[in-house]
Amino acid sequence: MDAGGGGGVPGGSGAGDREWSLDELAAAYAYPEWANGRPETWLRANMVSTLDGAAQHDGRSQPISSDADMRIFGTLRALADVVLVGAETVRQEGYRPARARAEFAGARAAAGQAEAAAVAIVSASLELDFSLPLFTSPLVPTVVLTGAAAAPDRVAAAEKAGARVLVAGDGTGVDPARAVQALAGLGYTRLLAEGGPRLLGQLVAAGVLDELCLTLSPMLSVGDAQRISGGPSLTVPRRLELVSLLEEEGFLFSRYRRT
Ligand SMILES: NC(=O)c1ccc[n+]([C@@H]2O[C@H](COP(=O)([O-])OP(=O)(O)OC[C@H]3O[C@@H](n4cnc5c(N)ncnc54)[C@H](OP(=O)(O)O)[C@@H]3O)[C@@H](O)[C@H]2O)c1
Repeated sequence: MDAGGGGGVPGGSGAGDREWSLDELAAAYAYPEWANGRPETWLRANMVSTLDGAAQHDGRSQPISSDADMRIFGTLRALADVVLVGAETVRQEGYRPARARAEFAGARAAAGQAEAAAVAIVSASLELDFSLPLFTSPLVPTVVLTGAAAAPDRVAAAEKAGARVLVAGDGTGVDPARAVQALAGLGYTRLLAEGGPRLLGQLVAAGVLDELCLTLSPMLSVGDAQRISGGPSLTVPRRLELVSLLEEEGFLFSRYRRT
């Protein structure tokens, strides 16, 4: 099913007996263009959850993902200017820099984008391993978003490792709206948040999330894993509208945006 607005992916709930091409996925997940031009910024999140709400298994999302999920993950990265991610996900998932992909090179150049998305890590402690490829060999310098009161020696270590450190909060913490503005200041307007749940919860609570791409994985995991968003409950649940729904091998790929 394509609920409209997704565009590009041929009819039905899947691509028949073949997988969607990257071109089809890129069209289906294109960042919005309004009649009066592109929105100033657009922040989408991409998350995966089991049927019973687990956002990870054994501390990672890979066991609840699939090949199709990873193709969509890669497509969303290829469309984005910057990938926003919480420091714990970087630590637990061993994050690497986004890579350039030949299939998307022409489209990125035409859109005025760098070869690959930058990675922007949100961290108060700056307890990050600056010897990792994320810092030593990214195609685009990795960004670290932190607060004004971050430890100066950690800021210096981040900068020495080649990261661009942006202050987006008054204490040690980052204010989500200021983070979006700081990234826009670097020319990054097509934003993709890849979690984790604690970061996503703050993006939702701050009202800066425009879109959620949610993969529903046909698995049950029981246990006490985090849900896709964490933190204090909102006073009133936020309503989103369905943009598109795709299916492959029992995995549902939904795309919701703010009403
Ligand atoms: N299902 C999915 O789609 C998905 C996606 C991503 C991750 N995950 C899973 O989620 C788990 C990790 O997620 P998580 O929720 O525990 O952590 P997270 O959101 O990835 O990172 C939390 C960390 O980010 C930093 N942070 C968050 N908000 C901040 C703010 N406002 N100001 C400054 N720093 C801030 C802090 O880093 P410091 O401690 O450095 O200060 C905090 O400890 C992993 O198991 C991962 O596999 C699942």
